[in-house]
Amino acid sequence: MKGVILAGGHGTRLLPLTKVTNKHLLPVYNKPMIYYPLATLIKGGISNIMIVSGKGHAGHFLELLGSGKEFGVTLSYEVQDEAGGIAQALSLAEDFADGDKIAVILGDNLFEDDDAVGKAIHEYKHQICTLPNGKTVGGAKVFLKDVPDAERFGVATIAGRKITNIEEKPKNPESKYAVTGLYLYDSQVFDAIKILKPSGRGELEITDVNNFYVQQGTMTYSVLDGAWTDAGTFPSLLRATMIAAKKEGAI
Ligand code: G1P
Repeated sequence: MKGVILAGGHGTRLLPLTKVTNKHLLPVYNKPMIYYPLATLIKGGISNIMIVSGKGHAGHFLELLGSGKEFGVTLSYEVQDEAGGIAQALSLAEDFADGDKIAVILGDNLFEDDDAVGKAIHEYKHQICTLPNGKTVGGAKVFLKDVPDAERFGVATIAGRKITNIEEKPKNPESKYAVTGLYLYDSQVFDAIKILKPSGRGELEITDVNNFYVQQGTMTYSVLDGAWTDAGTFPSLLRATMIAAKKEGAI
């Protein structure tokens, strides 16, 4: 299984911090933001990881992380010429994935309990789902967190043990379960992206990719016990810093 860290976008909600640097390079307590999603993938036993970033700052990621040797992994780099959404950025990793299952993580997502998440990634490697026609596929898995501000995220509707729909930034969320920015996919993901249409905000949405698996009946999920946050706004960046500082025993 391979890993992909998506670190593109303009980070406009963090201006002026992101005027001359990339959001994912900003400090979160004592490390650059991207170190945290990288550590999460490494906990999942993933050692071959691609970083997708925008044109302006690709060189900075290379300078910071190099070959990956320092982390015991192999890193490669891909450039997204223009921001076109998370799913569009992911499509650039198709050759890299080369038919393997992949763990995709957003470069601004921070998971407190890396051990639990790592364990779930390990388990997903063995996930097999049977389709109505008897064919087997790996399917997908997402990680949910109950949050007080679900309208900021993709939100899952759950019935029994199944996700029945995911809605991107709903005005009236059907549940309190945000879909966090860690996605485990089989190789069908790239076919799913090819048939996507841009959303209202002109982007290829990762939520539409997830709904492909929901409709296929091959989407599984875990609910996170530990804290989780994105770090794309000032309040969430502060939350991320608090989680990181706590993990380090600093507060
Ligand atoms: C993105 C996804 C959303 C997900 C969130 C997690 O939102 O579109 O579904 O819940 O990441 O961080 P964005 O950060 O682009 O607003």
